[in-house]
Amino acid sequence: MKLTTEEKEMLAGSQGPGCQLSMEILVEVGEIFNAPYLIPVRSAHIVISNYKNCFEAGIEILEKFAFLQSKASIPTTVDPAGMDLERWKELGTPQDYAEKEWRIGLAVKKLDFIPCWTCTPYLCGQVPKVGDHLAWTESSAVIFANSILGARTNRETGGLDVACAIAGRTPYHGLHLDENRKGQVLIDVEIENMTREHFITLGYFMGLQAGTKIPVIEGIGRNSPLENYIGMGAASAASGGVALYHIVGITPEAPSLKMAFGQTPIPKPIPFGVKELKETKTKMCTAIPGAIDAVMVGCPHYTVAEISELAKLLNMQKISPRVKFWIYTYKNNILLAQRLGYKEIIEKAGGEFIADTCMIVSHTELYGFKQIMTDSGKCAHYAPTEVQAGVAFGSIEECVKAAIIGEWRG
Ligand code: F3S
Repeated sequence: MKLTTEEKEMLAGSQGPGCQLSMEILVEVGEIFNAPYLIPVRSAHIVISNYKNCFEAGIEILEKFAFLQSKASIPTTVDPAGMDLERWKELGTPQDYAEKEWRIGLAVKKLDFIPCWTCTPYLCGQVPKVGDHLAWTESSAVIFANSILGARTNRETGGLDVACAIAGRTPYHGLHLDENRKGQVLIDVEIENMTREHFITLGYFMGLQAGTKIPVIEGIGRNSPLENYIGMGAASAASGGVALYHIVGITPEAPSLKMAFGQTPIPKPIPFGVKELKETKTKMCTAIPGAIDAVMVGCPHYTVAEISELAKLLNMQKISPRVKFWIYTYKNNILLAQRLGYKEIIEKAGGEFIADTCMIVSHTELYGFKQIMTDSGKCAHYAPTEVQAGVAFGSIEECVKAAIIGEWRG
């Protein structure tokens, strides 16, 4: 791999042992991928941020870099932690589990990473521009940065992301290159007036159809709220391994269908109509109609707009006392929800905010829920194993209805 003079010096230890170790990792990984060189990145987003994702090995990586007195050389945000960092005791977090999270938190602090603890860093001060090269890990953030913001990042792996944050570089391969960003699969949406639930179901369908290929979507308008793309991308990254999609007229590098595919012949479209919508929603539901124990929303982390929609639905309502209604988001959003009066409305109805974490990366399985409901495609995909419960997927209106009556009717 070709290195600049500065990079050769970094590899020889000119910027300290932590940077030297990072360069050794980057060069080794770059050679595996046949990357011709390293490319400077504007920011990093780290997924070694909770015990469920990184285990003991991940904590040791963070602590090793902290011990070597490494610091992030570029703005570096962190994914959700494994517990609410303030209310962990109240929420029943076991002490030994909490201690592992504190070790991660301490290392994050020493490394100068930004402790936003969210999977939506692009809504929390880390906003890339079109064409920026990044080193991000969280799959829902990667797909949003590539497809909506027009930045360029691979789905980095835990450990490599830390090295990228310290050295400020990543191997130049995969989605950093123009030729690897062209469409490979065409999806034709036949449904008019797509709701958020439809977008998320489309995302899940897209992941199943495309796998790790790059889908191009035709037939959805330009005027949808941001949250529709956030939820759709997260679902497709979970059900498949999609890291980039093109929506003609929205994705910056896809102003036309021709440009989305480049030199590749445009393939036969895969339809997404009412039949596919129904079949996909059925696949996303593993619960059986009947009582639910909890409704969990905020995967990816709920935005202020979503909290506002929820507050309208829950205003003057009462959630069944048998059902937990948990809203996951980052700290700043809870503060805004409080200032806007939404928090009070939601809590009066029986809802509860949980900060810094989410239902998948925290210890939700310890609550022993048999069936949960969610409005998230990513949660629907991972919760059967991570929460160890049957999952009902539906719109936020359906989630609220089920929470009030205490059951999901299918
Ligand atoms: Fe975010 Fe957790 Fe979902 S990290 S995308 S809320 S699985």
